[in-house]
Amino acid sequence: GYAILNSEIINRSEAKVDIEDRGYQFGDGVYEVIRVYNGKMFTGKEHMDRFIKSSESIGIKLPFSAENIMNMLDELVEKNNLKLGIIYMQITRGAAPRNHAFPVGDVTPCITAYTKEMPIPEANLQQGVKTILTEDIRWLRCDIKSLNLLGNILAKQKAAENGCYEAIQHRGQDITEGSSSNVFIVKNGVVITHESNNLILKGITKDVILRVCEEKQIPVEERTFTLEELAQADEVFLSSTTSEVTPIVVIDDKKVGDGVPGPVTRQLQELFKKEIE
Ligand code: PDD
Repeated sequence: GYAILNSEIINRSEAKVDIEDRGYQFGDGVYEVIRVYNGKMFTGKEHMDRFIKSSESIGIKLPFSAENIMNMLDELVEKNNLKLGIIYMQITRGAAPRNHAFPVGDVTPCITAYTKEMPIPEANLQQGVKTILTEDIRWLRCDIKSLNLLGNILAKQKAAENGCYEAIQHRGQDITEGSSSNVFIVKNGVVITHESNNLILKGITKDVILRVCEEKQIPVEERTFTLEELAQADEVFLSSTTSEVTPIVVIDDKKVGDGVPGPVTRQLQELFKKEIE
């Protein structure tokens, strides 16, 4: 297949980066994962806006306009004949002699992107997934979609080793988010999810869910909730670009509610499906 390397679309096998690229050495960059349904980007603009926001927040200036990049991504999807899958895109500060401080002078940022076929995770959406709880050991700028994912990786690995799909992270008593997803609880018909501040990523799927809740007058509280509230929840689900609205039916070997996806989760899955049609 094809990949983007800076301003060019080239063969994936020819896309090479420098061993002193700061993304490789320091994780000095940001990324996005964008869903492609029916050969078209879903919420592409929102992802591009977040990409720009993330990169500006660490002082990387995009070498091309957002419009330019969007056009290239469209072309990439087309050339790869991608119908159902994802685009992975990242930008790093570029290659320079290793030094923690930003390189002085003109260093050209390095943009790469490629596509991958990915089916809709029907079994998970239908049956729900198992999860574990783990302390959130990440830094205090989780709102930046940074390439530095060690905290997230270690959490996800712990989940995998326990036969689980996701790790739900908490800072002390407060639930933050999954290792690669946002987490929601439902209590007495109210949908509750962590407010979008520096402690979580402002998920684009989360924002779609919050918008459809508003449209359908499903009550929402965007606020911090606790381990105790999680344990007492009627329903729990997670959201992400690749996981859509996935029910959580087990947390640390304990069933959520009666252990099957609940009615509000089902309703939100339906409403989300309508959004992607
Ligand atoms: N992960 N929180 C974290 C830490 C994430 O990594 C993600 C996405 C989300 C959900 O964001 P969105 O709805 O915009 O996908 C929340 C992507 C899919 C990934 O790293 O693969």
